[in-house]
Amino acid sequence: MIRIEIITIFPELLEGPFSHSILKRAQQKGMAEIILHNLRDYSDDKHKRVDDYPFGGGAGMVMMVEPVFNIINHLRSQRQYDDVIYTSPDGELLSQPMANRLSLCSNLIILCGHYKGIDERIREHLVTKEISIGNYVLSGGELAAAVITDAVVRLIPGVLNDETSALSDSFQDGLISPPVFTRPATYNGWPVPPVLLSGNDRLIQQWRLEQSVERTKQRRPELFSDSKQ
Ligand code: ADE
Repeated sequence: MIRIEIITIFPELLEGPFSHSILKRAQQKGMAEIILHNLRDYSDDKHKRVDDYPFGGGAGMVMMVEPVFNIINHLRSQRQYDDVIYTSPDGELLSQPMANRLSLCSNLIILCGHYKGIDERIREHLVTKEISIGNYVLSGGELAAAVITDAVVRLIPGVLNDETSALSDSFQDGLISPPVFTRPATYNGWPVPPVLLSGNDRLIQQWRLEQSVERTKQRRPELFSDSKQ
């Protein structure tokens, strides 16, 4: 069971991704609890403001420290958290090993960032881990929070029907997955590789491993060299 509390100024943006498919099932089965918090609810300001002009001038607004402090303090008064994650392009790049480690946590907070827009004191004093989902800039951290949550929750034992299937994912062994096929065996003159129809499990597993190695060398050579280190 993992509990993930997401702090955002756009909770509606995140309702969709968590109410379908695997993430929905994980919550229904009690294996994950994903809680959305609207940062505005923690603003002491009478207009519920959560951002203000930057000291020293410059473009854009800055997320204020106070509402973030209020909510994190409130959450921490109820339980201990393994990490307070801030989504930011400056953070450590999300990877499968990082998702594996996070899936062992019990309680996480994810603060959805706004690039160039969050008071540095939040990062200095409240955040314990900064994560980027890739070397590009999103307009907010909500989509990154959804990606992190999905990558982590699907690893919780029992969330996927076939427990071995997360282990055989691409990247788990430093290799990308082999190709898969389903019926019909020939479509439009395009045949399925005959070995998959052979019924010989040893040959099939050998073929899959060869395909994985070959694909990784061709498409993601850096993964291949990493996995050999
Ligand atoms: N916020 C904006 N861009 C981001 C990124 N690439 N990863 C995580 N959070 C972000």
